Amino acid sequence: MTHIISPSILAADFANLGAEIEKINASQAEWIHLDIMDGVFVPNISFGFPVIKYIKKHSKKTLDAHLMIVNPDNYIERFGEAGIAYLTVHYEACTHLNRTLQKIRSCGMKAGVAINPHTPVSLLSEIIQDVDLILIMSVNPGFSGQKFIPNTYGKVTQTKELLQQKNANAIIEVDGGIDLTNAPKLYELGANALVAGNTVFMSNDPIDTIRQLKNS
Ligand code: DX5
Ligand code: ZN
Repeated sequence: MTHIISPSILAADFANLGAEIEKINASQAEWIHLDIMDGVFVPNISFGFPVIKYIKKHSKKTLDAHLMIVNPDNYIERFGEAGIAYLTVHYEACTHLNRTLQKIRSCGMKAGVAINPHTPVSLLSEIIQDVDLILIMSVNPGFSGQKFIPNTYGKVTQTKELLQQKNANAIIEVDGGIDLTNAPKLYELGANALVAGNTVFMSNDPIDTIRQLKNS
């Protein structure tokens, strides 16, 4: 499978958002990762629909939204209207996850489920056939620029095994602390998409860094 790179716009310079998006447009990244935080599910607040509207307008890439919010069901339709392609909700935030995923698909989007570092992969066994994407958090969600948690490697392997066992084929995405040292092993273990915030946007040459991540 191809190596998808999803630069997280959270680490971009928001005063120069247009220029930051142009860099992604000019790069080999397939997706742009949008981290939506509500200050309740995670101890941080990021951005919402007004910003997403302009990212959609200027970006040529697939929009990959990661909702770190409680009650995501309340906003699914609006994310569909905003042009999101992949909408990922947190396992830990959804009491009726099956219903939430159905609603995402009924709004014309691909449905993803994210799990926090402490959440076992085995909890996905009854839902894995109904998702398009599994997002494995490799940091505790809330902030860019945190250190990668090595336990993630085992979770990628377990997710791959669970997919095979259930004859399912969701994309495996890993998010948090991704850099050129851990990307090759994650791809080797079966990850298909890697999110990168700081590694891309703090680089002197984001376009080349994306190329290196993708080809690692
Ligand atoms: C963390 C977010 C990540 C983060 C990635 O809550 O979900 O997407 O912005 O940023 P880096 O790559 O800097 O860890
Ligand atoms: Zn994210």
